[in-house]
Parts: sequence; C-alpha cells; structure tokens
Amino acid sequence: MATLHSERLARDFSDGTSLRRVLFPTTLTLHPGELTVLSGPSGSGKTTLLSLLGLVLQPTEGRLRLDDRDLTDLDEADAATVRRQAFGFVFQQPMLIEGLSVRENILLAIGIQGERPSAAHQAKAEALLADLGLAGTGPLQPRLLSGGMKQRVSIARALVKDPAVLLCDEPTSALDAESGQAVMRILKRVALEERRVVVVVSHDARVFPYADRLLKIENGQIVADARERYLP
Ligand SMILES: Nc1ncnc2c1ncn2[C@@H]1O[C@H](COP(=O)(O)OP(=O)(O)OP(=O)(O)O)[C@@H](O)[C@H]1O
Ligand SMILES: [Mg+2]
Repeated sequence: MATLHSERLARDFSDGTSLRRVLFPTTLTLHPGELTVLSGPSGSGKTTLLSLLGLVLQPTEGRLRLDDRDLTDLDEADAATVRRQAFGFVFQQPMLIEGLSVRENILLAIGIQGERPSAAHQAKAEALLADLGLAGTGPLQPRLLSGGMKQRVSIARALVKDPAVLLCDEPTSALDAESGQAVMRILKRVALEERRVVVVVSHDARVFPYADRLLKIENGQIVADARERYLP
C-alpha cells in the first residue's frame, strides 16, 4: 500500500522547431484504495500524465514521490527497477505474445526482472487467473481467448508482481460493453480490496460509474477533480 504524489509535474515536447507544453504543472495525491479515472479529449495529455506517473517519461519540471521516496531524478537503471517493482501497466491492446501460453505471458513479467519465476509466482499466476474468471486458461495460447479475456490476462500480468500502483491506458476501448464492464469491476476490486493506487485513462463515459475519483484534463490541465461514489 503506497501513495503516489505528483508535485507540479509538467512536460514539454518539441514539435521540431519549438517546445510545446503538453502537461502544465500538475499536483495530485493518488491514494491507495481509490480508482481514479482520468478523462479528456484526444490529445489533451492523458497518456502523457499517465506515463509521467509511471516513470515511463521524464518530467520537464516537478517531482514524483511514492510515499516518501522521491522518484524524480533516478537514473534509467533505478527507474526501471522501481517501474518493475512498484508499477503495473495495462494498455488498450493487451499485447500478449503468441507462442507463449497464457501462464507464460503472465510470468514473463517476472522473467523481465531477471528473476526465475518461483513456485510462489506460478501459484500467484494461477490464483489471479481464477480470480479474473479465467481458471483453466493457463496452458492455452492467447489467440484462443476473446478480447475481454486477453485484457484480463494483461491485468493478471500487471498484478503478478503485486504493484503498489496500477496504471491503465484505455483498457476497455477495444472491448464490447459487457467485457469492458467485467474489466472495470476487476479494476475497481483491485483498488478497493487490495488497496492499490489504480488510475484508468478513458474517454468512455461507461467507465465513469466505476470511478471513486474523476479527473478531467483539457489542453494539458486538470480542469475538474471530483470524488464521488457513483456505485453503491
Ligand atoms: N513523444 C512526443 N513528441 C511530441 N509530442 C508528443 C509526444 N507524445 C505526445 N505528444 C503530444 O502531446 C499531446 C498530448 O498527447 P497524449 O498522447 O498525452 O494525449 P491523449 O490525451 O492521451 O490522447 P488520446 O486520447 O488520443 O490517446 C498531443 O498533442 C501529442 O501530439
Ligand atoms: Mg492517449
């Protein structure tokens, strides 16, 4: 359980000739146990903010802290270690590797850390699959699964390392309504019951009812920050 703080986090991008501010200074405290939905028009800076929060991008200005640990000026090797240990990512496309089974895809998250998956990791992968309604799919090739099932495997892959922070970029946009809702219910539970920081980028209004906190971003600035229980 950990809290993620951004302090006046900002990012500029070069458009070839000049620098453009894509994210204006953003101060946020993201609490464990809360599902935060970050919504806004295309190009408003959602992926940029998520990437800054996940140490995938370096900020131009500002600081990022996980509890008391300052993550701002880490060198690439240390940033990669923190990213692997403390952050899980779920993307729009599940990006599973064909030729590897579902189980091997999940355990790849461990292998990438240079670790050999232990019996405990294997058990955790199986438990996550069962938890996500995918019991028995471990030996299967990803191509045999539906889009919603693949997305759930990618959630298992992100969770197998027990990350304090789960960052999801449009995780439901490639899914039909029913699979999208199943994925959101799972993300909600991961936040609430496992006390992780969960951030979901989405411009899909069907995702909003799952939010404990709804952030709206426009032109690189947070313009609304509402905390509400939408679901009973
Ligand atoms: N690597 C980059 N180099 C230059 N400009 C970039 C880079 N990445 C993003 N941008 C610009 O930053 C702005 C915000 O992009 P970002 O990807 O954060 O938007 P978004 O809200 O995630 O949009 P979408 O809903 O389409 O995914 C855009 O104008 C984009 O062109
Ligand atoms: Mg985006």
